[in-house]
Amino acid sequence: MIGPLVLGIETSCDETGAGLVRGHELLADAVASSVDEHARFGGVVPEVASRAHLEAMTPSVDRALAQAGVTLADVDAIAVTAGPGLAGALLVGVAAAKAYALTLGKPLYGVNHLAAHVAVDQLEHGPLPAPVIALLVSGGHSSLLLVPDVAGEVISLGSTVDDAAGEAYDKVARVLGLPFPGGPPIDQAARSGDPAAIAFPRGKYHDGSLDFSFAGLKTAVARWVEERAARGEPVPVADVAASFQEAVADVLTRKAVAACRQHGVDHLVIGGGVAANSRLRALAGERCAAAGIRLRVPRPGLCTDNGAMVAALGSELASRGLPGSPLDLPADSSLPVTEVVVR
Ligand code: KG4
Ligand code: ZN
Repeated sequence: MIGPLVLGIETSCDETGAGLVRGHELLADAVASSVDEHARFGGVVPEVASRAHLEAMTPSVDRALAQAGVTLADVDAIAVTAGPGLAGALLVGVAAAKAYALTLGKPLYGVNHLAAHVAVDQLEHGPLPAPVIALLVSGGHSSLLLVPDVAGEVISLGSTVDDAAGEAYDKVARVLGLPFPGGPPIDQAARSGDPAAIAFPRGKYHDGSLDFSFAGLKTAVARWVEERAARGEPVPVADVAASFQEAVADVLTRKAVAACRQHGVDHLVIGGGVAANSRLRALAGERCAAAGIRLRVPRPGLCTDNGAMVAALGSELASRGLPGSPLDLPADSSLPVTEVVVR
């Protein structure tokens, strides 16, 4: 096998991830989630997430090493999510990564969580073409990026002006009485619903920008459901879920295709938790095919947060022999998407 063996550590939200990658080969992907501990609050509780990361950190790394059949002594570099994310949660991963790097005497790469969501696709579909347009849709971010080099240059073309796409899923799920996180249950409920049943608004659809807005859509769904309930009528959960999901997928794919056209790029990669959505994947497939754009979307398990994505980006940096981050690397909860690695 070619290239350095990279351990990736992810703790930006509620998943403790440890992954091992060499080149573009995924050797291990151990993820421990604290999502069950947050479910009754309807959202991630930062303090609870931090404590869960502390408990899961070293067992997750040990599990990844065992999966790959290697030991810590075989690891050539450590990569860790330095931001963006929850400050306390990030700190656990960053502290652990520093400890591993220091004791092993290996380079440390503090990387951007968002670039890692893009880089992970290389584990499944090989090297990313340059440039590529990336649609990044997660619980905290919705962005369109021009990526000349995932390990070096990421340019922001547009982003949400209010809620992230995943946040809208989570809030709409709550309105519909579905569990947290809302993406998977809405995806499931929508399968038996009519996506054309309710014409929900599509924010910023015609404004010509590459920005998104999902707050109006979320409010429109809540109003529609409240009015229905006030009249004593049952809420058609499947139809509401399908119509909401259609509005989200429609705007995201329309703007992603527009970004490709505007920048003359014929490859689109989609990453982040919402990229696991079945309707988004299908509609993106249709619209990219019609526009002559090659679409790359990692399998759903690699779209949601994991350590393999951090290792994938770390592998890109380490393979090129790029300098690492200092051992006093800070966790930066609002690390800008353009900063791929913290130096
Ligand atoms: O990337 P991710 O795991 O964490 C962040 O970096 O935020 O994304 C989590 C988000 C949540 O809002 C969750 O509801 C959404 O991804 N999500 C989905 C699906 N699976 C997860 N949204 C729509 N459809 C899905 N199948
Ligand atoms: Zn994420």
